[in-house]
Amino acid sequence: MKRGLRSRLTQYGDEEFALFLRRGFLKGAGYTDEALDRPIVGILSTASDFNPCHGTAARLAEKVATGVRLAGGLPFIFPTISIHEAFSFPTSMLLRNLMAMDAEETMRALPMDSAVLIGGCDKTIPAELMGAISADMPSIVLPVGPMLAGKHEGARLGACTDCRRLWAEFRAGTLDQAGLDRAHDQLMPTSGTCMVMGTATTMATLAETLGFTLPGAATAPAVSSERMRIAEATGTRAVAMAKAGGPRPSELVTAASLRNASMVLQAISGSTNGVVHLAAIAGRAGIRYDLDELDRIGRETPVLLNLKPAGAHFAEDFHAGGGVPALWRRMQNHLDLDARTVLGETLGAVVGRWPEYVDDEIIRPLNRPVVEGEAIAVLKGSLAPDGAVIKLSAATPELCQHDGKAMVFDSLDDLEQRIDDPALEVTPQSVLVLRNAGPIGAPGMPEAGALPIPKKLGKQGLKDMVRISDARMSGTAFGTVVLHVAPEAAAGGPLALVQTGDLISLDARGRRIDLKVDSSELGRRREQWKAPAKPPRGYARLYADHVTQAGEGCDFDFLQQQRG
Ligand code: FES
Repeated sequence: MKRGLRSRLTQYGDEEFALFLRRGFLKGAGYTDEALDRPIVGILSTASDFNPCHGTAARLAEKVATGVRLAGGLPFIFPTISIHEAFSFPTSMLLRNLMAMDAEETMRALPMDSAVLIGGCDKTIPAELMGAISADMPSIVLPVGPMLAGKHEGARLGACTDCRRLWAEFRAGTLDQAGLDRAHDQLMPTSGTCMVMGTATTMATLAETLGFTLPGAATAPAVSSERMRIAEATGTRAVAMAKAGGPRPSELVTAASLRNASMVLQAISGSTNGVVHLAAIAGRAGIRYDLDELDRIGRETPVLLNLKPAGAHFAEDFHAGGGVPALWRRMQNHLDLDARTVLGETLGAVVGRWPEYVDDEIIRPLNRPVVEGEAIAVLKGSLAPDGAVIKLSAATPELCQHDGKAMVFDSLDDLEQRIDDPALEVTPQSVLVLRNAGPIGAPGMPEAGALPIPKKLGKQGLKDMVRISDARMSGTAFGTVVLHVAPEAAAGGPLALVQTGDLISLDARGRRIDLKVDSSELGRRREQWKAPAKPPRGYARLYADHVTQAGEGCDFDFLQQQRG
């Protein structure tokens, strides 16, 4: 197999000419012949002014390059799409597959022997992993790392759990504008990813568990010197992988490593987005992600990590408390410790030499979980024949068994226009239903599933009510929220047929979500239902035509089960 500059030569019908030309251009850029004979490490930089979570990415890329040079390799830093949660209209999820294609196709096209994937903000690590798996490029993930927690008027604050809490208090009138403005300055006090167990921390932790990072890389704070040292070591390791030709993603993503990831997802009370991304990652490796197994694992796996929103602490505390390998050690009788890592060794070997110290308050022993019961449960029933999920660890226990009348919002626009209408006929027992917010319907399945509590109920002090949608929810959010209802409304799922006033029954313990309307009435409604129009052109049309449902990862059908 051709390596370094000789790999993936441009096709002119004359390979030696293609190499001659390539070397010539690089000499023109100031490289020497000696440098050009080294193994090449591609460094995917997601630095972008539109992505403040990746404010340190350019410096990290330089540190990776230093590590590559120290180990005798040649680093090439190159850009990819960079997606930030709060900067992507209509939602970052719409662009995840595009970023995955960008990563895959550049890895296929450019001369590199291994890749370092710098990511962090929610969709970036999943996209990079999906691309790397499809290209089967020896790859090592470098998360940008979490922000430090904010300090404000005697309390610690964390994005975005406290953003949501403070905003809810502001909407309810219990926090004034001045109080909100003072807290605003401290919610995101440094560069880095959200420092609670949101999607970014979840996916960094799962990337480490799948073996794609150096030990400790998921949790070291973004602005720490340790993060910079990890970057350098990542570059050094990438050269060894370039020389050895592996480990490749196909050696790391296996049924066993995915089971480990599901177990860790439950133990950290991770983001429900982790379910969608794991399904997509599995699909790229030709493995069907089993939602029933995730549910079964949840019933057997206590929530051990005491991080917001399920717990009380922040990502920097997770790191100081022992980090991901310390969590693996807690779970070592349940995880498959033979699963491999980018170091070419097993999780068990990493655990074996990881420092013994663990903070019992942050990473709890198995017999002292953070919350009673499981983190994420999978529901099925007449409203969600192909499944839905609920994050039980973020829900109100009394609402998890609940019958109530539906208040239906037909779209995100409809929700925005009517949710605060004083005449809206809702009570604390109502079930708020949002549809046409799924993968096809929105499109892109935005994080709109935690519908705001109607202002008139919020002002009465109501903090939670049952909410159901085909949308997703941020990992930093909380509430009794049923998500990812499949099939989604835009694909003709039963959610499309619900009418305001219908009775809906949530039985989370029994894993049921049911629409209590008789079948003849539903048949009549179905005859009148029309699929919403798809976007007329471009990437949005490609997305709507090919995106799969949440349980299959919302990947494009033509990208699953492909291997380079
Ligand atoms: Fe970037 Fe939360 S918005 S990680």
